[in-house]
Amino acid sequence: MKLLEISEQHPKVYIVGGAVRDKLLGREPKDVDYVVVGATPEYMENRGFSRVGADFPVFLHPKTKDEYALARTERKTGSGYKGFETRFDPSVTIEDDLARRDLTINAMALDPETNEIIDPFGGRQDLQRKIIRHVGEAFAEDPLRVLRVARFRARYGFDVAPETIQLMKKLNNELKALTKERVWQELEKAMSETRPDLFFDTLKKSDSLRTLMPELTFTNRVARLLRNPSLSLPQKIAVLLADTTPQDAQNFVQRWKAPNHIRALVLPFKLMQKTLEKSSQIDGQRAVNLIQAMDGWRTPAKAQLVLDTLKEIGVNVADIERAFDAALRVTFNDLTPEQKNSLQGAEIGKAIQKLRITAAKNATR
Ligand code: CTP
Repeated sequence: MKLLEISEQHPKVYIVGGAVRDKLLGREPKDVDYVVVGATPEYMENRGFSRVGADFPVFLHPKTKDEYALARTERKTGSGYKGFETRFDPSVTIEDDLARRDLTINAMALDPETNEIIDPFGGRQDLQRKIIRHVGEAFAEDPLRVLRVARFRARYGFDVAPETIQLMKKLNNELKALTKERVWQELEKAMSETRPDLFFDTLKKSDSLRTLMPELTFTNRVARLLRNPSLSLPQKIAVLLADTTPQDAQNFVQRWKAPNHIRALVLPFKLMQKTLEKSSQIDGQRAVNLIQAMDGWRTPAKAQLVLDTLKEIGVNVADIERAFDAALRVTFNDLTPEQKNSLQGAEIGKAIQKLRITAAKNATR
């Protein structure tokens, strides 16, 4: 009891998780998370911290707004995100807190007063050896960690320890319980990393890809295409679906509730891919129909993005691009003087459209 009182008077703060990992890698951490050992919620609140965590005690610093969590242990007691038993009394040590974490490289703490690194699971060595390894069997308590492993591999290009891949394989059934939002969030984050292809490659190696995303056909070609750093997120999703059938691509964006700006590229992209891969030779009328199908008259920039993305996967869009360019050069000034004088309102738009179609046809002769 005495010990407890002493530790309550001398809580200790540690920097934990991603910030320690990034510091050791010489990278600028995105945000800094703290763990407080030897404190109670009342202690934190008395010092002006405001509580934010509903399920476990996390507080915001009154000035910096950084997150300070009380050291805690967790044990899975049921299914889903809520089925956790959390213990956070002042006797929980920093080592206890680190033991509940996912990966050795994420399970280190830094004492900011002494600069000492607390590393009970060999995270520093794994960083040096470039290995992603789980801390312990508790990894299995959160199936999202399967996706996190894949995402960290996309970021750092490290190898995944064989025993971690084995454990990931065992979690296939649990993956189905993940919410669509959380899966999509991980996928989007992975897409912004240096090697998005390694996200899917890792999920394939752990047999998770066919459980989680059965529609997806992930080929070597798609992997190579994903390594192009100049693609935007919607373009990366389109390219990801390059070897997937149009129907499966549609199922994919629907099932994962992909945001509208992504669907707006992926759906016309797949339609055009299918049409142009059958035959890329197009006459004027076909060019006009395809521009129409891409909604190119109304939203030329979006249609151009579809064409640019098709080029990325090697589809020949030269003819349609020529037609489109010629059509878009037509303006009000190309109407005859009589038309300019006599036409009113919507008639003007119609007359311009007619000239555009003629220009598109002429360009593909
Ligand atoms: N953590 C965990 N299991 C999870 C999520 C998080 O063990 N499913 C732990 C890890 O120790 C992780 C820390 O909580 O380092 C913070 O998580 P988060 O901010 O999501 O990730 P970071 O590791 O900081 O990585 P990022 O750079 O992507 O933010």
